[in-house]
Amino acid sequence: MGCAISGLAAKTDLAERSREDAAVEHPNEEQIQMIKDSWKVIRDDIAKVGIIMFVRLFETHPECKDVFFLFRDVEDLERLRTNRELRAHGLRVMSFIEKSVARLDQPERLEALAVELGKSHYHYNAPPKYYNYVGAEFICAVQPILKEQWTTELEKAWQTLFQFVTALMKQGYQEESARQRQLATSPKDRLDKRNTAL
Ligand code: HEM
Repeated sequence: MGCAISGLAAKTDLAERSREDAAVEHPNEEQIQMIKDSWKVIRDDIAKVGIIMFVRLFETHPECKDVFFLFRDVEDLERLRTNRELRAHGLRVMSFIEKSVARLDQPERLEALAVELGKSHYHYNAPPKYYNYVGAEFICAVQPILKEQWTTELEKAWQTLFQFVTALMKQGYQEESARQRQLATSPKDRLDKRNTAL
């Protein structure tokens, strides 16, 4: 493991929860520039980072692996490093991060993207309590790539971006969960609405 913040997300859950109702902070101008510059370096290794990030996530928070039915039965995490599905999944997540970086100057578009992602995670059965872990593992995975270019300011910038995205994912998850609850509990209402629309 060997990364100071790896696994810390669980310990900061309480602090995170108390901040959840606060306004979501978007990276500032200086942080946006730092994120964009560092992304140019990270981008060359996206497949590697995607895999490292998720293998680390499963090491530090094994309960997350159960959500992925394709590899939840793989006991040996070393074998996961060469797993095709995990590589594909890692690339999907990294390409979302790429899109987020590209939308840093358009917060409303990034917001819409992250809320939609949260809605799809409702259908993947991936609950918000796990989202914070991903940012911490991303940071641990990219630190060695950036070597001496890594600074505490850059770390803060990436943390801010992940907090922004995961808070919106959580919002999307909750919206979708409420929508599904409503669909499940009010079939009569739905019928009535359909009839009045005719
Ligand atoms: C910052 C946090 C996360 C981001 C940015 C993220 C991003 C993504 C993206 C881009 C996809 C591809 C499908 C789509 O666009 O809807 C995806 C799929 C998925 N995610 Fe996440 N995810 C995050 C956290 C998690 C966590 C913590 C779990 C489980 C504990 C999880 C479970 C899944 C599953 C089961 C799928 C569907 C299978 C697949 O596409 O391989 N995600 N995620």
